[in-house]
Amino acid sequence: TPLHGFLADLPKCEHHIHLEGALAPSLLFKLAAKNKIELPTDDPAFASPEALTKRYTNFVSLDDFLGYYYIGMSALITHEDFEALATDYFEHAAKDAVMHADVFFDPQAHLSRGVSYETVLSGFTAARQKAEKNLNITSTLICCFLRHLPVPESVETFQLSEVQASFASGAVAGIGIDSSEVPFPPHLFTPLYAEAAKLGLRLTAHAGEEAGPEYIASALKDLNVTRIDHGVSLARDPELMARVAAAGTLLTVCPMSNVFLKCVKSVAEVPIRKFLDAGVKFSLNSDDPAYFGGNYIGANYCAVQEAFELTVREWEGIALAGVRGSWCSDVRREEMV
Ligand code: ADE
Ligand code: ZN
Repeated sequence: TPLHGFLADLPKCEHHIHLEGALAPSLLFKLAAKNKIELPTDDPAFASPEALTKRYTNFVSLDDFLGYYYIGMSALITHEDFEALATDYFEHAAKDAVMHADVFFDPQAHLSRGVSYETVLSGFTAARQKAEKNLNITSTLICCFLRHLPVPESVETFQLSEVQASFASGAVAGIGIDSSEVPFPPHLFTPLYAEAAKLGLRLTAHAGEEAGPEYIASALKDLNVTRIDHGVSLARDPELMARVAAAGTLLTVCPMSNVFLKCVKSVAEVPIRKFLDAGVKFSLNSDDPAYFGGNYIGANYCAVQEAFELTVREWEGIALAGVRGSWCSDVRREEMV
């Protein structure tokens, strides 16, 4: 890639990475064996880490991926497992010159398996503290709620005393919604976001990944989000795109994820040029790097460069929007500009 060295060294902020999506097949098999978790025996993809890696290159949709994503995380049981998972992510991030990461996790997918919130949070927190000390990567946790589950269950999870404590302490800075997008439009989650807004939490939502721009409009209007995760379908509604640009809402775009999940045919179809022309702020992110060919944030930057041949000035603008849009402390922000 032209600018390869420049892009590799460019200081990055990542805003769209599911820690559970950083679970590589090798670690998955190792943890399943240790924890005596039986992986599906009726799916040849689970014959070996190599077979699983190959299956991960053939997803046909978001829901096809999510089936594997939820099976994969069934191997995560102990504090050490969650710490190892997040540490693996931060080590990859360090190699890609990531300085700050706002990272998602899915507590409902662990609580439903009998794994406590405390186990998940303490494992991730230990990894985050070591990443800050040893790798100079700061991070913020975003608690995501699963939109394929009934809305009252997300509100119940949100109200749990240990979850509330993690908001009060600042351990978790914001909330999001993820998992199957259609037919679960953002407005369904208005009660959850109203509660989160009362606590002063940061608000984001996956929208416009498989669904059209009307899901993005709903996330902005009904949930009052300041960020949109993905947002690729925004370019189909120029009027909404102009409003998003004027509001300064950050899109957390995941180009290679969109290709692996068949939302687009190639990275060239991701509307990067339209966003630049319209003045829409966006960052580039890996989403679930272990499931998408082991392509972490640096590979996403390179793929965008190959497809769009951006200038150094354009890359500097993207990097700066990432720093300004990060949910880090102001002290950290000053260090990064
Ligand atoms: N959970 C993990 N990755 C996701 C994605 N790309 N979209 C929705 N939910 C997800
Ligand atoms: Zn995502």
